[in-house]
Amino acid sequence: MEATEVSMEWLRRAFERDGYIMDQDILVSVYLSLRLEKPLLVEGAPGVGKTEIAKVLARVFGTDLIRLQCYEGLDENKALYEWDYQKQLLRIQLLRESGEVPAESDLFSEEYLLERPLLRAIRAKRRPVLLIDEVDKCDPEFEAFLFEVLSDFTVSIPELGTVRTRKVPIVVLTSNNERELSDGLRRRCVYLFIEFPSVEKELRIVRSRVPEVSARLAADVARIVSAVRGMDLRKQPSIAETLDWTRALLALGAEKVDDALLAETASVLLKSRDDVLALRRAATEPGGFVTAALERAGDAGKPGSRRG
Ligand SMILES: Nc1ncnc2c1ncn2[C@@H]1O[C@H](COP(=O)(O)OP(=O)(O)OP(=O)(O)O)[C@@H](O)[C@H]1O
Ligand SMILES: [Mg+2]
Repeated sequence: MEATEVSMEWLRRAFERDGYIMDQDILVSVYLSLRLEKPLLVEGAPGVGKTEIAKVLARVFGTDLIRLQCYEGLDENKALYEWDYQKQLLRIQLLRESGEVPAESDLFSEEYLLERPLLRAIRAKRRPVLLIDEVDKCDPEFEAFLFEVLSDFTVSIPELGTVRTRKVPIVVLTSNNERELSDGLRRRCVYLFIEFPSVEKELRIVRSRVPEVSARLAADVARIVSAVRGMDLRKQPSIAETLDWTRALLALGAEKVDDALLAETASVLLKSRDDVLALRRAATEPGGFVTAALERAGDAGKPGSRRG
């Protein structure tokens, strides 16, 4: 199936078959980025499923996932291509020994080219998925360069000439918003912000990713996590932590969650000492945490409705 020809319903089914639960926001943005052949820029808190979108897209279209992990100091050489200096030196040495003078064109040929993710995506035979992960971690200069590449997918390599893409890759950029991205880059993309999931969505995610969990335990998990996110924490638990917690509860043979179990397993769900202590305190207070959490979640609500 060509990515530009899919229907929204086909896309939703394909993602769900792969275990990724879509809500309408995500579906529409992914769909439009495919139809309009624009990069998809995904923002949201850590662990809400940003990177996973690119992985699922690659599986859904049966194509390669090419990943460019961004970090401070990432430059064109590491992102696009570099020359294999060691191999070049070796070649020069060999030629010298046999009394020959190496020609420049000999040394700057395909044989000595080290393809990095962007060039690999541009030259791919099949339309790949290009994941530019955590783009907010790169420097503004690199972002400007990236913007140019994403504008026309053409690069010129002085020694080899201009390389043009056959088919614009499916591009997914992710950001945790550590640094504000340029307007230019934003304008070029279809934008998607992923919120923490609603209780209903998280329940579906848990059942899809941990199929051995009972409906009862999954429902408890989704409601309690939602209530935990409503606490005043340093870092709210993400979907990844929800899934870890579910697996931990199963490993402990739990069928339902009570305050004692919540206190014991708090460090699977929360990743800082203060947060763990706060949750333990809440669970051991008179009345506890769990009962109220399960009751409050009756309004199985919008993300963040109980925050603050
Ligand atoms: N809608 C969803 N359906 C199914 N699984 C999901 C969904 N959202 C997230 N997950 C799961 O949650 C985990 C975290 O997702 P992912 O790695 O994509 O997060 P992220 O947003 O890229 O986080 P980070 O900012 O830390 O890189 C993965 O195991 C993923 O499979
Ligand atoms: Mg990620």
